[in-house]
Parts: sequence; structure tokens; C-alpha cells
Amino acid sequence: MFKAVREAFGGTLGMRISGTDWVDGGWTVEETAALSAQLKQAGAQFVHISSGGVSPLQKIALGPEYQVHLAKAVKDASALTTIAVGLITEPAQAEAVLQRGDADLVALARSFLFKPRWGWEAAVALGGTVDSQHQYWRSLPREAKNIFNDAKIGMR
Ligand SMILES: Cc1cc2nc3c(=O)[nH]c(=O)nc-3n(C[C@H](O)[C@H](O)[C@H](O)COP(=O)(O)O)c2cc1C
Repeated sequence: MFKAVREAFGGTLGMRISGTDWVDGGWTVEETAALSAQLKQAGAQFVHISSGGVSPLQKIALGPEYQVHLAKAVKDASALTTIAVGLITEPAQAEAVLQRGDADLVALARSFLFKPRWGWEAAVALGGTVDSQHQYWRSLPREAKNIFNDAKIGMR
């Protein structure tokens, strides 16, 4: 199936995988790592490691970064570009996941629903920059005035 998509599509292609079923006898992180290595052979450029509610028997230890260890196991075993997701909520926390080498990229969902400008706030917190439509250039408070690359506005 993946090979058929790979043959039909020349762009960046990866797969989002449930890293574990969180139940005895279910899908395991070792199987995810093995699948990821096969996907790499088949031309995948990344895997995105999540997990889902698949059984009432699950006991998921929900907490900050609760799926990051799955991403790390897959990254270590497959050497495929790996995205971590799951209760990564703060800019410094996201940066720490990357600096530790637990994942190559991080993704956020619920935090973006709550704060659609999370990326801008992360740029302020981490000293980074983001691209923006010029209509937004005048919006920046002083402490954030450098995040839009070379954007210049006149009087504040
Ligand atoms: C109620 C709920 C159910 C979810 N079910 C799945 C799922 O079945 N499969 C999956 O890959 N991810 C599932 N997720 C994970 C999300 O798709 C997403 O990866 C996660 O919410 C991102 O992390 P964040 O929202 O903590 O940033 C679920 C998340 C929530 C909150």
C-alpha cells in the first residue's frame, strides 16, 4: 500500500503511526520501529508517532510528553526522521525534546487550538523568527518586535 502511494506521489511522504496500543497483546513500539525501518526502505521520509484510544483496557499514563518515548524508540531504531506529538505544550519543552535528540520534529494539536499564535509566542520565547502576512506586522508588542524577520513598520 505505501509503495503504491510512493510510486504515485513524488513529494515528501511519510506516515502517522500509533506507536503502541497500550495493551498487552496489542501493537507494540518494537513493531512500530520495525515498520518504520521498512517504510524507510520503501521511500518514506518521515514517521509521525502518535497513539489512540483503541481499547477500554488501556491505561495510558497521560502527562507531559507522554508519547515522546515512543518517538525516541522509533528514531533510534529506524534512523528515519521522526516527529513526536502528545502534550508538548510549552516552547522550552518543545525545544528540549529536540535538543535531547528524542525526535527530529515536534507537533502540537490542542495547544494550537487554544493558542492559534503559539508559533509566534514560541519565536518570542526562543529568540526565533516566523513569516507573517504584512497585515499583521503592526500587531507586535515591543518585546516581540523582531520575530517577523526583516519586517519594518513605521510609527508604533
Ligand atoms: C481524545 C483523543 C483521541 C485521540 N485519538 C487518536 C487516535 O486514534 N490516533 C492517533 O494517532 N492519535 C490520536 N490522538 C492524538 C491526537 O491525534 C494528537 O496526536 C494529539 O492530540 C496531539 O497532541 P496534543 O494535542 O497533546 O498536542 C487523540 C487525541 C485525543 C485528545
